[in-house]
Amino acid sequence: MLRPFATALVISLLFACGPTPKEKLAEQRQPKGWDDAFSAPLAEDLSSDDKTLEVRLEAKLATLELLPGKQTQVWTYNGGIPGPLLRAKRGDKLIVHFTNNLPEPTTIHWHGVRVPAAMDGAGAHGSAIAPGESFRYEFELLDSGTFWYHPHVRSSAQVGFGLYGALLVDDGEDLGDDVVMVLSDIGISEDGTLVPGDVSGWFGDYFGRAGDTLLVNGRLNPTIKARVGAPQRWHIINAARSRYFLFNVPGQKLIRIGGDGGLIAHPVGVSELRLAPGERAELFIRPVAIEGGSIIVQSRDADAFHVGSTLPPEDLFTLEVTGDKPWTAFPPIAQTLRTIQPIDTTNAITRTLELTEQPGTAGGQPTLGINGKPASAMEMLHAQVGTTEVWTVRNTTDYDHPFHLHGFFFQVLELGGKAPAVAEWKDTVNVPHQQTLRFAVTYDNRPGDWMFHCHILDHADLGMMAVLMVMP
Ligand code: C2O
Ligand code: CU
Ligand code: CU
Repeated sequence: MLRPFATALVISLLFACGPTPKEKLAEQRQPKGWDDAFSAPLAEDLSSDDKTLEVRLEAKLATLELLPGKQTQVWTYNGGIPGPLLRAKRGDKLIVHFTNNLPEPTTIHWHGVRVPAAMDGAGAHGSAIAPGESFRYEFELLDSGTFWYHPHVRSSAQVGFGLYGALLVDDGEDLGDDVVMVLSDIGISEDGTLVPGDVSGWFGDYFGRAGDTLLVNGRLNPTIKARVGAPQRWHIINAARSRYFLFNVPGQKLIRIGGDGGLIAHPVGVSELRLAPGERAELFIRPVAIEGGSIIVQSRDADAFHVGSTLPPEDLFTLEVTGDKPWTAFPPIAQTLRTIQPIDTTNAITRTLELTEQPGTAGGQPTLGINGKPASAMEMLHAQVGTTEVWTVRNTTDYDHPFHLHGFFFQVLELGGKAPAVAEWKDTVNVPHQQTLRFAVTYDNRPGDWMFHCHILDHADLGMMAVLMVMP
């Protein structure tokens, strides 16, 4: 039986004396289409089954105006930079009807996704898709998280020319308005043409080629709209071929809630975000009012080459905040986001490898490799399905390398002598110069050949790339 007080409360809720909790939540949300001027277009789903996302992707040249007044012929998925946003739920099946209409072979690699080896698009054994040919990618999305897709053939050039897109696999958590940010850069010459993929020769291979135009979702300094108190969940991907991004958002508190492989164990306040090529992060922000209503977020040079860079910061995007009253109805972010069981390493097999720089032959330029082996004699390692390993990856060079393993998530045990502050699943980790990364990985039942490499794609193509053969 309801007491009079409770009865009154129920009646007031029923008879429009205020919004229901659900309506309150909806009020928090931006209206439909609020981010159209910021986001990448959503891929069209050809399937009527709601457990399947079926899309068409075509790699082709397209002419876009990336810099005002300049027409640039770029390489695209479906005619845009970035490619369409693929959005699905964990457990869904993804079917991609892919056609290569580029002037050269390509593949699609699903960065961070636990696909069967045959769907990994790594082109390890000449499985590239020739011009005019098609391929059907089909796999189940086993994990939620912020993933991305890009070619794995001549990847430094192809990614640099515009071939990349985001794949967001929803975890069903309601943490705020989802915003996907694909960060990249592109090199455009005075006359509007693309800077060649191999510009500045060996020097470019060695230092990595950063385009001097920064793009967020293919746009130059786009504006992201926010409302005071209405939380946003930013899914950020570094899709640049070699550039690190480093930024803070002046006046706003940034809370990191996710990484490469979805939510991390608990939220971590961060003063700035540093993303190596290939890496992802999820940030939670609950906007507060900004003087003047908007602010330009700039990316600073991360100085990954330790040359004491003095490059000025560059504009990345503009945050526009409207409203002035903080919204208090939204609950604070949970202190536990996810339970991540540490990998049991008691019977782990250990392996050690080195990221190396080899002197050139006969006085030639030095080159990069793994365990001293260049691209022409790529290192091949063997492992067994069902086993757990602990890898020690030593960076013996004088600059940083983002280490990336295909096919399997790992847990960092130690980086530069320190244990990580929060438990999370990673597939790409920056290994600072002369430092060591230790991680644990378990090979689930997906045998095959998996690449691992530096995600500065110029370095990978130069030879800092190898193969892990996981045997059934
Ligand atoms: Cu983004 Cu071989 O990877
Ligand atoms: Cu990958
Ligand atoms: Cu590298």
